[in-house]
Amino acid sequence: MDVRTALKQGIAQLREAHVPSYTLAAELLLLHVLGRDRAWLYAHPEAELAPPDAQRFAALLARRAAGEPTQHLTGKQEFWGLEFEVTPDVLIPRPETEHLVEVALDRLAVREIRASRPPKTQGAGLLIADVGTGSGCLAVTLAKELPGATIFATDVSAAALAVARRNATRHGVAARIHFLACHLLDALPPVGARHAVPAPFDISPVTNHQSPVTSPESRFLDLIVSNPPYIGRREAPTLPREVREHEPELALYGGEEGYELYADLIAQAAAHLKPGGLLVLELGHDSLPAVRPLFDFPAWTNVAVTNDLAGIPRVLAAERTS
Ligand SMILES: C[S@@+](CC[C@H](N)C(=O)[O-])C[C@H]1O[C@@H](n2cnc3c(N)ncnc32)[C@H](O)[C@@H]1O
Repeated sequence: MDVRTALKQGIAQLREAHVPSYTLAAELLLLHVLGRDRAWLYAHPEAELAPPDAQRFAALLARRAAGEPTQHLTGKQEFWGLEFEVTPDVLIPRPETEHLVEVALDRLAVREIRASRPPKTQGAGLLIADVGTGSGCLAVTLAKELPGATIFATDVSAAALAVARRNATRHGVAARIHFLACHLLDALPPVGARHAVPAPFDISPVTNHQSPVTSPESRFLDLIVSNPPYIGRREAPTLPREVREHEPELALYGGEEGYELYADLIAQAAAHLKPGGLLVLELGHDSLPAVRPLFDFPAWTNVAVTNDLAGIPRVLAAERTS
């Protein structure tokens, strides 16, 4: 069978199984089996599909038709133009999360302009935290965009941190990312140790939920980004099966309502951001009414919300006052 016929049959099979974006899914699976790119596929429609490749393609189509996400079958997803390894241990990076990177980079630049300083295009000396790093897509992207920055990437899932570390290595930024297994920011280096951040280290899960860092001098982060779990458990039945049955619960659910983690996250951020430091958060589709009031305190200023391409309030950014 030639590749064009194989692709046509694959598309028909996935359409019949009601797979979303069935054409793209079939194409990605075939390209994965062939180890080729799309340009090759369309330049060589008559190429013969070797029997072992045909068998592998059939097996992948069957798994996709049964609900496994395409990214779990190919093991990868693009984010910010970079390829990330994904496994069932991490959330598959979503395009809307790229808005978080855009907002963070814009706000960092604006902060320098307001302070009449030249923008730190290389991020020299910036200390950044990515809370709930998952695949590491945010930490790695920021490390690539800001080659002078140091990043703390936290997650409660040790399995996710292993994937994030491999992605950091793949993109050549592992030396500047410290992976921490902890709740939110609990395992950040203690006050006084921050000038001597060691080579990438791991700290075992910490259960202390208090934020010990309070005085302006002791706060040292310039930027905190987070795409926390924000789906409500009560919404689970409405999720696509690809998400509900295959993505990690830890990455999806923030609690019964969904927004439960934000209050603790914002309180911890206030305790770690230096004056003028930035917090940039991804929001669930209906999180804004619950999250916005958490910034009505003197600790925060310049609060702004950015919509995603679907018009949903998706990113909230705020600046720590003194
Ligand atoms: C929605 S995923 C985001 C992953 C990645 N940052 C992204 O944008 O694709 C949320 C991540 O937060 C982690 N997580 C859940 N609860 C956490 C907590 N209390 N502290 C730290 N990380 C947590 C999950 O394991 C998961 O990797």
